[in-house]
Amino acid sequence: MRVLILAAGQGKRMNSKIPKVAHKILDKPMVNWVIDVAQKVSEEIAIVLGNGFEIVKQLIDPSIAIFEQKEQLGTAHAVMCAKDFLKKGDNILILYGDVPFISKETLDLLQRTHIEHNNDATVLSVVLDDPTGYGRIIKNSKNQLIKIVEDKDSSENEKNIKEVNTGIAIFNSEKLKDALDKVKPQNVQGEYYLTDVFLFLDKTEVIQLENNAEVLGVNDRIQLAEVERKIRMEIMKKLMLSGVTIVDPYSTYISPDVEIGIDTIIQPQTFIYGRTIIGENCEIGPLTRILNCKIGNKVKIIRSECELSEIKDNVKIGPFSRLREGTFLEENVKIGNFVEIKKTHIATNSKAQHLTYLGDTYVGKNVNIGAGTITCNYDGRKKYETFIDDDSFIGSNASLVAPVKIGKNTLIGAGSVITKDVPDDSLALGRAQQVNKLNWVKEKWKNNLKGE
Ligand code: UD1
Ligand code: CA
Repeated sequence: MRVLILAAGQGKRMNSKIPKVAHKILDKPMVNWVIDVAQKVSEEIAIVLGNGFEIVKQLIDPSIAIFEQKEQLGTAHAVMCAKDFLKKGDNILILYGDVPFISKETLDLLQRTHIEHNNDATVLSVVLDDPTGYGRIIKNSKNQLIKIVEDKDSSENEKNIKEVNTGIAIFNSEKLKDALDKVKPQNVQGEYYLTDVFLFLDKTEVIQLENNAEVLGVNDRIQLAEVERKIRMEIMKKLMLSGVTIVDPYSTYISPDVEIGIDTIIQPQTFIYGRTIIGENCEIGPLTRILNCKIGNKVKIIRSECELSEIKDNVKIGPFSRLREGTFLEENVKIGNFVEIKKTHIATNSKAQHLTYLGDTYVGKNVNIGAGTITCNYDGRKKYETFIDDDSFIGSNASLVAPVKIGKNTLIGAGSVITKDVPDDSLALGRAQQVNKLNWVKEKWKNNLKGE
């Protein structure tokens, strides 16, 4: 079976300059939701793009074949633009780019039924309390489709039908090709409707789906928010049943590709996105955002931002820490408030607890980074590296001007500006010596007690 995704439409009802399928649900563009499920059921996938061609092209896996629909003349016309993809003797599954939450299990069921019953086409339907906007299913008592009537073309009686077309259907490729040639744009919208091919197919079965959350279409931003909420709750229910505590699901956002180990607690107002993996017994949040991170067991992250970072067991982060791309924290590291870290590896048991920037740096084991330490890694043109070896102590408010190497077991005096390498076991001071002027203040004010 091949899969064809239709995603050329503009999405007029979104009122957007961005194509509809590029809008994000849980930080993942809608089109990628559809592609991900397509990739679970088939290796041969194609997509029809039109509106915002370049924007959408950049979002998708380059192995997917792209067909262009220059003018959007309707869903049947979109399929015609990919005619070369309809292979003889094969079946083709059509997915809509704006129906993002369809599951692999449902697609498997659709495919199985289609093959077992030797259908020309098998269509997925659902019953909705409010079917407005959807095509209505007209079928006989044996679940054989007679026709689909679009909302805008329907009579008063037809409008009362609550069983609707999800847009998801599987076809015998050869028969679909022939039927497409017969479709005419004779309807209110003047479009070539894919739903009209059923007029020319003999054996079309309707499968009615129980879970309507899977097939909700996104046509405007209200539906975008509704679909996101439904999907979000489903993802969190699965996680909770698998052993994750989510203290307040209503203020928590977790992407579908996130994995979380048992007995981890997710505190309120937390956002976990991308392909993040979190181990067991962690406590994440409140007020935390994590994107594409790999996190071990027993890690605590409070009120912080973490992106593209790897964090080993027993690490403590926050409150108010920011881990940027390329941060690697080994076991037992502690990162505290107002500490920013980028492209930096910190080895076991080291700490940077207050007001620090570490960029392009290696920090060895058992190092203490004092409050206010800054690695000066950028000279306005290039970035340079800092190396801090094991067991060193960096005094508060030190500036380490990169490139620079701090040896093992060293002590850097507070307030130092370090521009030269420091050998092992040394004390380095890089600041003006203190001068005490005895009685200076007393002398100054001696004849003017009021200080005027
Ligand atoms: C469509 C179905 C309707 C169904 C509903 C389910 C048709 C005619 N109607 O209506 O029966 O109940 O989906 O959500 O198919 N597209 C193109 N090229 C085009 C037009 C559309 O690629 O020329 C793509 C869109 O990007 C979108 C999908 O096809 O991903 C569906 O198009 P849309 O205009 O949203 O159809 P609906 O009115 O929702
Ligand atoms: Ca739609």
